[in-house]
Amino acid sequence: MTIAVCPGSFDPFTLGHLDVVRRARRLFDVVVVGVASNTSKNALLTPPRRVEVARAALAADPETADVRVELVPGLLVDFCREVGAAAVVKGLRGGADYDHEVPMALMNRHLTGLETVFVTGDPAYAHVASSLVKDVARFGGDVADLVPPASAEAVAAALTHAREQEQR
Ligand code: PNS
Repeated sequence: MTIAVCPGSFDPFTLGHLDVVRRARRLFDVVVVGVASNTSKNALLTPPRRVEVARAALAADPETADVRVELVPGLLVDFCREVGAAAVVKGLRGGADYDHEVPMALMNRHLTGLETVFVTGDPAYAHVASSLVKDVARFGGDVADLVPPASAEAVAAALTHAREQEQR
């Protein structure tokens, strides 16, 4: 049985992420989505909320209904060892993703020998990034065809909460 981990910050989980997890699930017997912290990003959603949203999105899709979603509390390589993962699966939308991902893949292999498998996502989602989704939503744009419903709801609620906090 081959196990893979699809890691990410998933702030929020997008249809591009769903596409990558679907592809991973076709390649591996078991897929675990790992919600991790990226110290170079300021998250809008809390880690537990990101886990909930990814769970709801994956459960609603028959191809990914058996995919587990867990919080990665520390290093990704330690989490992968705990779940018995043979590899990490990451999606590449283009050259910028490649430049961002390769150093992380090399570091993970340096640390424990963990391999990374890259899959190219559906070009229909090449422009879909969590950061852009948040920006569009923040200025009142419609994100319904960029993210699963649970993500759209979570982002809207978090933005409303953040605005209320600012007004205090
Ligand atoms: O979706 P992202 O932000 O590109 O994912 C990056 C992520 C969260 C997978 C990466 O930052 C990560 O693995 N964080 C966990 C801590 C860790 O292992 N850091 C060293 C990475 S080489």
